[in-house]
Amino acid sequence: MKPIVAIDGPAAAGKGTLARRLAATLGLPYLDTGLLYRAVGVRVLDAQGDPADAATAEAAAQSLQPADLDRSDLRGPRADAAAASVASIPGVRVALLAFQRGFGARDGAVLDGRDIGTVIFPDAVAKLFVTASLSERARRRWLELRAKGIEAEIATVEEDMFQRDAKDAARAAAPLKAAADAYRLDTSGMDAEAAYQTALTFVRSRIGTQ
Ligand code: C5P
Repeated sequence: MKPIVAIDGPAAAGKGTLARRLAATLGLPYLDTGLLYRAVGVRVLDAQGDPADAATAEAAAQSLQPADLDRSDLRGPRADAAAASVASIPGVRVALLAFQRGFGARDGAVLDGRDIGTVIFPDAVAKLFVTASLSERARRRWLELRAKGIEAEIATVEEDMFQRDAKDAARAAAPLKAAADAYRLDTSGMDAEAAYQTALTFVRSRIGTQ
């Protein structure tokens, strides 16, 4: 069976960079599952809907199209907040579950998100929970925004991130938490290369045991 590598953690901990690189090295498909929730949230906003309204968000999740994931406006504060709202609605999570499982079913995959190791693929061969301090994550996100020409106050970025993580961790449906068997990787004092090498060593040790 092809391996599933689950990478979970809070916002801007470095999951995406790490997951993309691991997938390329291991020759596995990669899915950024946050994009699914972002696309649902933005579809609701497009229709002038309320991302906290369950019926509206569920309908948007059920009719999600692959092209919705290619939109250029899925990153930024508007999509961040809408994604976290729709993500707390159980029916939205159910609607997105089959797509995520199907993505990994044939060839294996590296997936990053909040509940990959706990709910989507509880039997994943390797699970990583990637974290970093709030101030470090806010600094990284602020640099990313600046590189895209988006001006923001670092204190506002940190506050928004704090609120979103708190909402992700407190929700009843698939909250952000480490799986009991996840390897915890705190990237606060690490550069991307060191985080990648540590993660790769762990994943290879797990795949080797399969
Ligand atoms: O990972 P990213 O920051 O793009 O995710 C955006 C939002 O989508 C998160 O704040 C979270 O509310 C939601 N999400 C989730 N489960 C996932 C991935 C993302 O609830 N597997």
